Amino acid sequence: MKEFNGKVAFITGGASGAGFGQAKVFSEAGCKVVIADIRQDHLDQAVAYFKDKKVPIHAIRLDITDRKAYAAAADEVEKVFGEPPQLLFNTAGVNAFGPAEASTFEDYDWVMGVCLGGVVNGMVTFVPRMIRAGKGGHIVTVSSWGGFVASPNCTPYSTAKAAVVMMMECYYQALKPYGISVSCLCPGGINSNIGESSYTRPKHLGNTGYNTNEKTIAFMRKHYSYGMDPVELANVLKRGMENDVLFILPFDSPETMMRETVERYVNYVSPEGMKRQEIVAAARRDEMKKHPNPMMEGAEEAGWGKAKPDLVWIDESVRPKN
Ligand SMILES: NC(=O)c1ccc[n+]([C@@H]2O[C@H](COP(=O)([O-])OP(=O)(O)OC[C@H]3O[C@@H](n4cnc5c(N)ncnc54)[C@H](O)[C@@H]3O)[C@@H](O)[C@H]2O)c1
Repeated sequence: MKEFNGKVAFITGGASGAGFGQAKVFSEAGCKVVIADIRQDHLDQAVAYFKDKKVPIHAIRLDITDRKAYAAAADEVEKVFGEPPQLLFNTAGVNAFGPAEASTFEDYDWVMGVCLGGVVNGMVTFVPRMIRAGKGGHIVTVSSWGGFVASPNCTPYSTAKAAVVMMMECYYQALKPYGISVSCLCPGGINSNIGESSYTRPKHLGNTGYNTNEKTIAFMRKHYSYGMDPVELANVLKRGMENDVLFILPFDSPETMMRETVERYVNYVSPEGMKRQEIVAAARRDEMKKHPNPMMEGAEEAGWGKAKPDLVWIDESVRPKN
């Protein structure tokens, strides 16, 4: 898609971080932007930001896991802007960190409910409306580089992010004949509020196996502050959309990273390859010891990525380090 002016854009998680960056960049490009978010305080801040700009912005409080509310939000967009969106950004997401083996049903239900289920709800709600409107469009889902790299310390998240990568490739092929393009944005770190994800965790899914408390949240705030600027990220996304790129990787050498990912899978299919992969992993661990990542400073003291203390059967001494 080359021309954004006058298009209606629906952005989930649009009131903070990556989504707010998209709201700024695409409203600047002339879009009528709908910001949908579960956090009222984030919505209020976003609306206040746009107040003086005199651009068409509409805010909706929405939990993307709630299908009825999602349909009502889609109706509201048509009422406010007279048509369904031509641009859909499935950006809202949450994360949670802890050992895969400590994960509870609720850890999976919450994280995958938002990061995968929320995207499913976006697609099933909007795709038929977009096709019926006959104006084409572009759908973006924000996955993560974590959708390509296995993490034993945020497994529900990585699982959901990998799933939406595949989902977007399927939709890319399915929607092309309707003039609707599809992209999947796969960032590394973003300077955002995602460290506060647990604040929106529903009570009935509160049972976690992970060590989550104000100390771990404070660590995450610092950790994510090293991430990419959301407006810069949205500009990279926009360029990718203009060129109809499916996997938009905001890195210096995305092709090298993807080749290494494919190579990892190739290695995993034979005994010789498994040995090769062990060597690659050991070299990476050595590299990390030599050059510790400043983003991880304070993780150990904060107890980040660990199991909650009463899961005494988890042996921290044998677990892979973050
Ligand atoms: N922060 C990173 O380092 C990073 C890296 C790669 C990918 N991502 C992805 O980027 C996307 C945006 O995250 P961010 O980092 O900007 O975080 P953020 O927390 O700043 O923004 C996400 C927004 O989504 C909202 N949200 C959460 N649950 C919701 C729900 N159920 N319904 C509606 N809104 C909901 C939050 O209230 C928040 O305003 C996510 O999909 C995330 O997984 C983030």
